[in-house]
Amino acid sequence: MRIGVLTSGGDCPGLNAVIRSVVHRAVVDHGDEVIGFHDGWKGLLEADYRKLDLDAVSGILALGGTILGSSRVQPAHLRDGVERARGHVADLGLDAIIPIGGEGTLKAANLLSEAGLPIVGVPKTIDNDIASTDVTFGFDTAVGVATEALDRLKTTAESHQRVLIVEVMGRHTGWIALHSGMAAGAHAIVVPERPFDIDELTKLVGKRFQAGKKFAIVVVAEGAKPREGSMQFEQGVKDIYGHERFAGVATQLAGELEQRLSKEARPVILGHVQRGGTPTAYDRVLATRFGWHAVEAAHRGEFGMMTALRGTDIAMVPLAEAVETLKTVPADRYAEAECVL
Ligand code: F6P
Repeated sequence: MRIGVLTSGGDCPGLNAVIRSVVHRAVVDHGDEVIGFHDGWKGLLEADYRKLDLDAVSGILALGGTILGSSRVQPAHLRDGVERARGHVADLGLDAIIPIGGEGTLKAANLLSEAGLPIVGVPKTIDNDIASTDVTFGFDTAVGVATEALDRLKTTAESHQRVLIVEVMGRHTGWIALHSGMAAGAHAIVVPERPFDIDELTKLVGKRFQAGKKFAIVVVAEGAKPREGSMQFEQGVKDIYGHERFAGVATQLAGELEQRLSKEARPVILGHVQRGGTPTAYDRVLATRFGWHAVEAAHRGEFGMMTALRGTDIAMVPLAEAVETLKTVPADRYAEAECVL
């Protein structure tokens, strides 16, 4: 079999572990040939690739980022994108393509699959918002980074008797905010799923100071927005791919809370530090299992499917189903966090 693999969309700790696992399972166990496309779908659209053998993936298990590079380019961005991809798949004699990516990548994978290309998807994102899988790799690492940052920020917040508004990633969903906020014992957690009311948030943080506490930590997901009419809010702008880029919810919240509470407030934007560095053991294991199962699915001819974690098992789920909706933070999960704020 000849398999093409690519990593697309925002990078994420664990991508290299999947690539390594695909190569080991395919080359060593099945005698396949594996090629890796450079910079995501762009590599497939431009037939820009290299051969991946055991040497190529040696020593990359614990490495962050992706040895193949990534981009947010998608076949749908080009008028002849699908035809170009089909042509290159035929020219290169590929029997399967394994795209590793998040929401946008998997949508593109589904599009190509519906056009008849042999696709087996592997979900990834630090945001943990892909439906149909219990967890995505990268999430555990990102939560660990954010939690460590929150722990560190507590001491400086206390020294200066400040409110720190810590912005974590999560443009559509608040999983990183929820988990890191719970793990670090934040005093308020703000997620996109529940537009915040600035009066309620002020009251919640203010109550802490009234109780004699000297500082407060608020975790906010970058995609969080105020409830309609709750406060003046500058909306984000669109990037060149039409994705929303945020206008700094932490900065806007810090300004508002400082005025309302008469306490010094500072925004801290963790940004891409959450995506960098070595994956946790959990993420390496999940990524390795996904790679193994993607190769097996390709050998069974199970195309148009995606690997998924269901409980402790890896299952194959239809790509079409996985891209239908995002996995948002349900109200009861938020309530569990709220109870310990
Ligand atoms: O989807 C993963 C993610 O890290 C989001 O949390 C974040 O909004 C986005 O990617 C940032 O993307 P970029 O690297 O293009 O700025």
